[in-house]
Amino acid sequence: MTESAPSALTSAVSVRDLTFSFASGDPILNNLSLDVERGERVALLGPNGAGKTTLSLHLNGIHEIQAGSVSIGDLHVNEDNLAEVRRRVGMVFQDANDQLFMPTVREDVEFGPANLGLSPAERTERANEALEAVEATHLADRAPHHLSGGEKRRVAVATVLSMHPEMLVLDEPTSGLDPAGRRELADLLVTLHLTQLIITHDLPFALEICPRSVIISNGSVVADGKTADILADTDLLAAHRLELPFGFDARRAQ
Ligand SMILES: Nc1ncnc2c1ncn2[C@@H]1O[C@H](COP(=O)(O)OP(=O)(O)OP(=O)(O)O)[C@@H](O)[C@H]1O
Ligand SMILES: [Mg+2]
Repeated sequence: MTESAPSALTSAVSVRDLTFSFASGDPILNNLSLDVERGERVALLGPNGAGKTTLSLHLNGIHEIQAGSVSIGDLHVNEDNLAEVRRRVGMVFQDANDQLFMPTVREDVEFGPANLGLSPAERTERANEALEAVEATHLADRAPHHLSGGEKRRVAVATVLSMHPEMLVLDEPTSGLDPAGRRELADLLVTLHLTQLIITHDLPFALEICPRSVIISNGSVVADGKTADILADTDLLAAHRLELPFGFDARRAQ
C-alpha cells in the first residue's frame, strides 16, 4: 500500500496573494504571499504602517479575509474553523494589557483551556506547565496589572502556551523591556520548539534569534532571506526606514 504524505510538505503558515483594505481606504496589504515552515523562527520587519500587525491579525482570523487565502498547516482560515485556527496560532499582542484581564495570573493562563472545555484538573495542569515554561510559577497568584512589563510579557506568552499552540505570533515583544528582560525573552523564545513569527523593530533581537527575516513595506514582501544578509544590506534597510543601532555590525554580531 502506498501512502501519500502531504503533511510533511505542508507549511506552518501559507499566505497567498492576500489583499486587504480597511473600509473606504487604499489597500494596506497588496497581494502579499509568505510561507513559513514548521519550526522556523522568522522576524517580520518593516517601517511603521507597513502592514505587519494587519497581516498578523489575519493569521488567527481577527481580520476577515477579503482577497487571497491564509492557511495554518492544512487548515484554510475561514469563519467555520476559527476556534481551531485560534488554538493553533498563539497571538502575543504588543500590549500585554490587551491579553491579561483576569484577577490573577493563574486565571488568565487557565482562561484559554477553560474555553476549550477542559476539566478543572486539566486546566490546572496546563497552567502549571505553561507557567513553568516561562519561569513564572511564582507569579501564579499575583494580579496581572501589578506585574512589571517583563513579567507581563512572560505571562502573556504563558496564556497562549496553555492552549498548546502550533505557532506563536509575537507583535513587538521587546518593546518596553529593559536589557535583562529582553535577554530573558530571547532565552525563552529559543527554548520553545514552536514555529514563531516575531514582528519587531529591534533588529539586533531579530538577528540574535531569527535565522530568517522578511521585510514588509507598503503591504508587500520586499525582502526575504537570511537575517544576517538582510541586515548587512544598508541600501535595502535605508529604502525601508530600517536602522541598526549606531556602530552595530550585523556581520560581526553573529
Ligand atoms: N483599524 C484600522 N482602521 C483603519 N486603518 C488602520 C486600522 N489599523 C491599522 N490601520 C492602518 O493600516 C496601516 C498598517 O497598519 P499596521 O498596524 O498593520 O502597521 P505596522 O506595520 O504594524 O506598523 P507599526 O510598526 O507602526 O506597528 C497603517 O496605515 C494604519 O494606519
Ligand atoms: Mg504593528
